[in-house]
Order: sequence, then C-alpha cells, then structure tokens
Amino acid sequence: MKYRNFTKDNLSVSQLGFGCMRFPTLDDKETINKEESTKMLDYAIDNGVNYIDTAFPYHNEQSELFVGEYFQKNGRRKDIYLATKCPVWKAEKEGDFYNLLKLQLERLQVEYVDFYLLHALDRQRWDKITSLNVFQDMKRAKEEGLIRYLGFSFHDEYPLFEEICDAYDWDFTQIQLNYMDIGHQAGLQGLDYAHNKGFSVVIMEPIKGGKLAYPPQDIQDLFKEASNDFSPSGHALAYLFNREEVSVVLSGMSSMAQVEDNVNVASIVEANSLDEKDQDIYIEAKMIFDKRTQVGCTSCDYCMPCPQEVEIPKIFKQYNNLHVYGEESNKDLYEKLQEENHDASHCVECGSCESQCPQHLNIIEDLKSAHDNLTEV
Ligand SMILES: NC(=O)c1ccc[n+]([C@@H]2O[C@H](COP(=O)([O-])OP(=O)(O)OC[C@H]3O[C@@H](n4cnc5c(N)ncnc54)[C@H](OP(=O)(O)O)[C@@H]3O)[C@@H](O)[C@H]2O)c1
Repeated sequence: MKYRNFTKDNLSVSQLGFGCMRFPTLDDKETINKEESTKMLDYAIDNGVNYIDTAFPYHNEQSELFVGEYFQKNGRRKDIYLATKCPVWKAEKEGDFYNLLKLQLERLQVEYVDFYLLHALDRQRWDKITSLNVFQDMKRAKEEGLIRYLGFSFHDEYPLFEEICDAYDWDFTQIQLNYMDIGHQAGLQGLDYAHNKGFSVVIMEPIKGGKLAYPPQDIQDLFKEASNDFSPSGHALAYLFNREEVSVVLSGMSSMAQVEDNVNVASIVEANSLDEKDQDIYIEAKMIFDKRTQVGCTSCDYCMPCPQEVEIPKIFKQYNNLHVYGEESNKDLYEKLQEENHDASHCVECGSCESQCPQHLNIIEDLKSAHDNLTEV
C-alpha cells in the first residue's frame, strides 16, 4: 500500500480508502452480508488500508451500525482513520448538528471520529446549514474531541465549490472524480483549487459507481496498450493515484475480488508515475465513452425510493448499457420491470427524485427517453 499525507498535520493515510456504501448484500439485496463484508474489511486493513468512509444514510442507515459492530468486535479501531458524514438534511434548528453527531457516535460505538464531513453539499443545503450556524456546533465538537478534522463532500456546480472552500478553513474535502468526470461538478478544477488552498482531497466514485469497470471492447483494447496490466477498474484508480493533489481514493467495493484488485493497484501506482502515453489513453477512453453514454447516472441510489416505485437507477443502467455496449438484452430486462410495474411509464413527474440527485440529472425527461429507447422494436 502507498500512503499520502493528509491534513496540515500530515497524517499518513492509505491512498485507497474503503467506501462503506456498497457492501455485498444478502438475497433480499438490502441486508448487509456481514460475514463477507467482515472478511473484505479484514483483508483491506491487513493489506494497509487505514481510511474507512461511511455515512448515516448508506445501506438504508445500516452502514454506520455495521461498521460500529465490526470495530467493536475486533478492536481494530485504533488501526484506522474513521470518517463519517453529517446528514445535514435532518437538521432543523441550531444545535441539531451537534446532536446528530452524538447520535452517530453512538451508532458507531466510538468516542470520536477522525474525519467528519458535511454530507453532499449543494446550494440548498449550504444555505440551510450556514443559516443554522453549523460551524458553531462543529467548533464545539472539535473542542470536546468528538471530531478531529472537518470537511465537506460536494455535489453541485463548480462556482459553489469555490464559495464553500472560501467560506471556512476546512481540513479536507471529498469530491467526485474519475477519468470521465473531469469537468463535472468540482472536477479537476476543484481538485486544483482545494489543493492550492491547502485542503486534503478525498475522491469518491473513482470507478463512476462501477460504470468504468466493464467498458466496451474498443476501450479494453486501448487499455492493452498501457504499461500496466490492470483491470479497467484498476486503470480508473491508477488515473487518480497518479495525481499528486489527491490524498485518498475511496472505492465502494462489493466483493473480495474487487478489494484484492484495488488493493493491488494501490500498492503499485504512485503520484506522477504514469508516462504521457498512459495518460493519453485515459483521455481517449473518455472520448469513446462520451460518445455513447446517454445519462450520467452513477447508481448512487440517492433518488430512491421513488414514491411510484419506478426503478430509476436500474432503468438508466439499462438505457446506458443499451447504447454503450449495444446490448439488446437490456430491452428484455426493461420488459421485466414493466411486468413488475416498476418501469418509467409509472412516473407521475412529482420530482422528488430530481431534488435528491447529486448529479442534478433531468430524471423526468431522461426517464421518458429511456422508456422510448428500451421499448423500441
Ligand atoms: N459524500 C458523498 O456524497 C458520496 C457519494 C457517493 C459516494 N461516496 C463515498 O465514496 C465511496 C466511493 O464511491 P463509489 O462507491 O461510488 O466508488 P466506485 O469505486 O466508483 O464504485 C464502486 C463500484 O465499482 C465497482 N468496482 C469497484 N472495484 C471494482 C473492481 N476492482 N472490479 C470491478 N468492479 C469494481 C463495484 O460495482 P458492482 O457492485 O456493480 O460490482 C462497486 O460497487 C462510497 O463507497 C462512499 O463511501 C460519497
């Protein structure tokens, strides 16, 4: 494992962090498969991962509880840096942020968290939390030793990113970045901006929520020309490990094979280690993908549950796969959703999904196009 400096205190953090949003689940697809997830966390920590990132809402609010149980059982809390995020949308009045943190510490069964983030900030949330004096609560939490470092994760347009960076002397920030999303949200511009301000930067969705794991054949052929023989996911991680401005790359791994694969890449690629030819390969891969992708959904599931039970991320996955991979079988999958009454025709345009979407997708319109394409004979 390669390590990077983190925060102005130069903590030594593993460049690969374990994102606790995509643990394997049992047959019901909801309950965390604790046995397998425990093995995966064990393997990651045994192989040098020391940054664990969870949040209140992950896995239907079960992720923090599981992470808490995990560390309670094995006493490994001291070996790692623990990050969780404040569900800012739950705060209604001054003082709520402090109370939410206390609740999260109980759920995690810990005295403190190393890294605390104000979760998924966008314009609406930022205006709300500043009006509720969030920094007063965070100051108190730091003074009482409940959190060591404060950051925020971001999902909105670039200008707001600068505004938030400039508003407070943050310790770190968490942004979405991968070789496809360089101009999206904070993007590469945000990475530079935060880095130049002296904030450490944590990356989320490095494999675009899994979308870069199984690219079409022409991209796979392109990767064969790279100097490292990595999986496509490995290449997505390598692109980020190569950047010196990045401190930690979080991946939400859902199987042991993925943990092994990602740990391997994190033990090989260092900052500034890829040559120009390798870097050009990622630019070309992006161009090939860009031409085919219809909707930039990352399957983060923030839009779910839909009140009409429309399976939004599944539908967009089928729509994109149809175009990116030319897989006609996605039409069969969509037909199954129609039989189960979970297809896009049940959308009543209430918009509750759009207000939750961190990618700010036009879900209502995109669902209509997806429906037309997936039902075309
Ligand atoms: N603060 C925020 O607003 C926010 C938002 C999103 C994420 N996050 C955090 O950031 C973390 C990382 O984001 P993410 O989970 O979207 O990361 P990601 O690494 O882009 O996506 C994870 C998915 O990629 C696939 N994958 C990972 N490694 C693979 C490998 N070696 N081979 C094949 N497929 C692989 C898996 O997909 P399959 O399961 O389909 O196989 C996995 O579920 C999250 O877990 C969470 O902790 C934070």
